[in-house]
Amino acid sequence: MDKVRFTQMKDGTKEEYEFLTAHEIDHTKHTARRLLKALVDLDEGLSGYQITRLGHSVQSATRAWRDGADTDWVVAALLHDIGDIYAPYNHDEYAATILKPFVREQCTWCVQTHGDFQMLYYGHHLDGFDQHKRDRHVGHAYFDDCAEFCERWDQASFDPEYDDLPLSFFAPMVEEVFAREPYAASVIRSGERLPLTDSAVAAERAQM
Ligand SMILES: [Fe+2]
Ligand SMILES: [Fe+2]
Repeated sequence: MDKVRFTQMKDGTKEEYEFLTAHEIDHTKHTARRLLKALVDLDEGLSGYQITRLGHSVQSATRAWRDGADTDWVVAALLHDIGDIYAPYNHDEYAATILKPFVREQCTWCVQTHGDFQMLYYGHHLDGFDQHKRDRHVGHAYFDDCAEFCERWDQASFDPEYDDLPLSFFAPMVEEVFAREPYAASVIRSGERLPLTDSAVAAERAQM
């Protein structure tokens, strides 16, 4: 079989659905590669800043890596704005949906809500924006993590002079993350909080 015969899903056979499932599993193996390509497409989006969206993404990830952050944090920083391409009004939720099965819950939550937290930096300059939108999340277990995520990596990463690592440097980390068993308890680590920074790791990386 190289194609199913049905034209309505309700007419499909067990054999056809097994064939399609095998296809889908093969397709999911290439998620990392597609995401890296999508990041390159980000380069064409949203002008006006001194650096492109791809530059901003790579710079956020570079800062995370240099802070000694673990792979979940680095990949979350790299992909946090990937929703800008197709979901300009909820780009944070879009990115979080992509990450959710594959990274720690803590990182997914920060990506999902970073749009609300980022308003702290510009909301007061624009009519109709709430600078303190993040306050609706006060009391959440990951509130401080998202505040730090935005302060250290997101709002700071618009600098054309910063020494970014290349996107290719992060490719193996993206590959590793999206090869994980989706939604595995050992991946999601529900409720676990890991620091964004690790000074010992950061010092080691500074020597590389
Ligand atoms: Fe964003
Ligand atoms: Fe951002």
